[in-house]
Amino acid sequence: MQMEFEMSDLGLLTYFLSMDIEQFNSEIFVSQRKYAVDVLKRFNLDQCKAVATPLDPNVKLSKENGDSILDATSYRSFIGSLLYLTTTRPDLMFTTSLLSKFMNSPSNSHFMVAKRVLKYLEGTSDYGVLYLKNENDILFGGTESSAFASEWAMSNLLNNSQVLEKAKKELDFEIGQESLMDESDVSKLPHLQSIISETLRLHPAGPMLLPHMSHSGCTTQGYDVPSNTTLFVNAWAIHRDPQLWDDAGKFKPERFEGAQGEPYNSKFLPFGLGRGACPGMGLANRVLGFTLGRMIQRFEWMKVDDRATDMTEGIGVTKPNAKPLEAMCKARDIMKVSSSL
Ligand code: HEM
Repeated sequence: MQMEFEMSDLGLLTYFLSMDIEQFNSEIFVSQRKYAVDVLKRFNLDQCKAVATPLDPNVKLSKENGDSILDATSYRSFIGSLLYLTTTRPDLMFTTSLLSKFMNSPSNSHFMVAKRVLKYLEGTSDYGVLYLKNENDILFGGTESSAFASEWAMSNLLNNSQVLEKAKKELDFEIGQESLMDESDVSKLPHLQSIISETLRLHPAGPMLLPHMSHSGCTTQGYDVPSNTTLFVNAWAIHRDPQLWDDAGKFKPERFEGAQGEPYNSKFLPFGLGRGACPGMGLANRVLGFTLGRMIQRFEWMKVDDRATDMTEGIGVTKPNAKPLEAMCKARDIMKVSSSL
C-alpha cells in the first residue's frame, strides 16, 4: 500500500473504538477499563460495594417482574453500555442478553439486576481478553468473519442500488456531510443496521455454527437425542427457509425494520444463541456498522460494468465470495472536509 498511498507508520495499535490494547511479545490484551470506569461514574456507582458475580443464580426474570419503571430510556442506556462492554467482557454477555429482553417495558426488578452487573464491574473493571499471538484461530475468526460480511454487504448493495441510495440518504440526514460518522452513530441508523442483519441472514459467516454437544438426553422435533451427541445447526438453511421467510432468497433489509434492539431468535441466529453464542457479536456489529457507514458516507459506489455483481459462494468455513468483489468508488464532498480534520 505504501507504494500507492502516502502513509506514515503510527506504531503498534494502542487504542481502538474505546478499547485499550496492550501488546506484549507473545500476547495482546484488550480491555475497556476506562470505558467501564466512565460507565460506573455515569450511573453514580463508582464508589459502590463490589459483588463477585454479575447475576444472582436465584433470580428468575420475566416480563411480569413488577410495575413498569418510569424511566425506560435510562434502562436502555444502561443496557446499551453493558452491550458495548461485552466486546471485551464475555463474562457479561449472558446477563446482558437476558436483561436486553426487557428493554420495551423494564420493571424495577430488572433495573436492580442491571445495577448488580455494574456492582460486579466495580471489582472487575480491568478484566479483558488476552489473545496469544500464535492463536491464529481466534484472531483469524474474529477478523475474517467481519471482513467477509462487509464484502457481502457491499456486493448486495451494488446489486440493489435503491437500498444503497436509502442508506446514503439516512447517513446524510442523521450525520450530514460536514462531520465524519463515528461508531456511536450506528444506533441512529436503523436502515444501516437492517442492511447488516439482512447480509448476515443471507451470508452467515458461521453457516453451520460450531459443533455443540448435548449434556443430557432430550427429545426434539420427535427425535430422541442421547447425551453426548454432537449437534450441527445449519443456520444457513434456516435463514433461507421459505417457510420461515417471505422471498427467502431476496436481499430485503426492510424485513428487519423495527427489530433493531433484539433481532436474534431461533430463525435468525448468525452468531448462534444463548450461552454458546459468539462472544464477538457486539464488536462485530460495531465494526460492521462503522466500516459500512463510513464507506457509504465518504464514497459513491458503482459496479465495474453493467452486469450484476457475482454472488457465487466460495469454499471455506466462513463462506467467502467465490470471486473477490471489484467495485469503483468516487469521493463525496465530505472527503474535502475530512482531509482537513
Ligand atoms: C460478522 C462477524 C461474526 C460472525 C457472523 C460470527 C459468528 C460466530 C458463530 C456463528 C459462532 C458459533 C456460535 C455457536 O456455535 O453457537 C462464533 C463463535 C465464536 N466467535 Fe464469532 N462471529 C463474528 C465475529 C467475531 C469476532 C469479531 C470475534 C472476536 C473478536 C469472534 C470470536 C468468536 C469466538 C471466540 C467464538 C467461539 C466461542 C465458543 O466456542 O464458546 N467472532 N462466532
